[in-house]
Amino acid sequence: MAAVTRAHWEKELAQLEAFLKAHPLAAASDLAALDELRVAVLGRSGSLTSLLKALKDLSLDDKKELGPKAQSLRVDLDAAIEARKAELEAASDLALSSEDALDLTLPAYAPARGRVHPLTSTLEEMTGILSLMGFSWAEGPLAESDDNNFTKLNIPEHHPARGMFDTFYLENSPLLMRTHTSPVQIRAMETSRPPLRIMAPGRVFRHEAVDATHSAVFHQVEGLYIDKNVTFADLKGTLDVFMQKLFGAQTKTRFRPSYFPFTEPSAEVDVSCLFCAGSGCPICKHSGWIELLGAGLVHPNVLKAVDYDPQVWSGFAFGVGVERIAMLRLGVKDIRAFYENDMRFLEQFDENLV
Ligand code: DAH
Repeated sequence: MAAVTRAHWEKELAQLEAFLKAHPLAAASDLAALDELRVAVLGRSGSLTSLLKALKDLSLDDKKELGPKAQSLRVDLDAAIEARKAELEAASDLALSSEDALDLTLPAYAPARGRVHPLTSTLEEMTGILSLMGFSWAEGPLAESDDNNFTKLNIPEHHPARGMFDTFYLENSPLLMRTHTSPVQIRAMETSRPPLRIMAPGRVFRHEAVDATHSAVFHQVEGLYIDKNVTFADLKGTLDVFMQKLFGAQTKTRFRPSYFPFTEPSAEVDVSCLFCAGSGCPICKHSGWIELLGAGLVHPNVLKAVDYDPQVWSGFAFGVGVERIAMLRLGVKDIRAFYENDMRFLEQFDENLV
């Protein structure tokens, strides 16, 4: 600023005061606007800074009179800027915390919980019912002997019934992957004396093409009851209750003559269609019935193979697929979904929460 007169200086100060009145610091809308004002007034070439510098051009009396005015304005402005700055900073902290959802009153995120696989829960349900009916748990290995899987179940070598099972044989081993849970019947009978009532849940293997209803690896539950005077009526009563507990009290069963080497007589067991209650729908192919399991009275040759006297002992057996039951109960159309471990599939089954 060139040398100034007192009149000019006073006019400039009055203008600055008018400007500050029109643009009060306390109204600065944000920190950037506040800083802009500070630079315009108090910065190196700000209007008040210039006025203070220009005091040197005035007389000593003028300096004494006007200097303190300008100084006190500067002190007031400094204080006002600090105050407004503190206000704006507090407000922006608050805004940040709500924008970023730092709501400390919210409950913590629940940790992800595991759940039981639908096949496991189906299997547990099946074995739970059978155990209430007096069947005790039995197991056998997945790699089984030819004897247990076939011969002792009345399927001798070269018997055409071996064609019922597409078998995986192991290389460099006499063992094969069990094609059904029936060999556990043999193991249970060989390790205990009758009477006997066991269920054998587990994995089985078939060399077959995988599609929506077939898998090369799947699960079965085997049942076996050996006692004196066990009849087909015992088998029917047992399976009726089993199916009713599994599918509902209204469920009916139907026994059709069939053939299995290890039972005589043998039956395929159907249940009344769960979807149309027997009146006919696409799922039961309009028959009203759904084919579910194989069963029969234990063949005398099987009893002989484990040294049980068929004149004294008799029994029934059945074998049922776990996947088949799970698909019907849960409305699953493709068996492969059980093995893919896609969480979007598995999470649907809320009843399986741990
Ligand atoms: N093991 C047979 C299969 O996998 C199912 C079966 C049928 C088991 C009749 C039995 C039975 O115990 O009595 O096809």
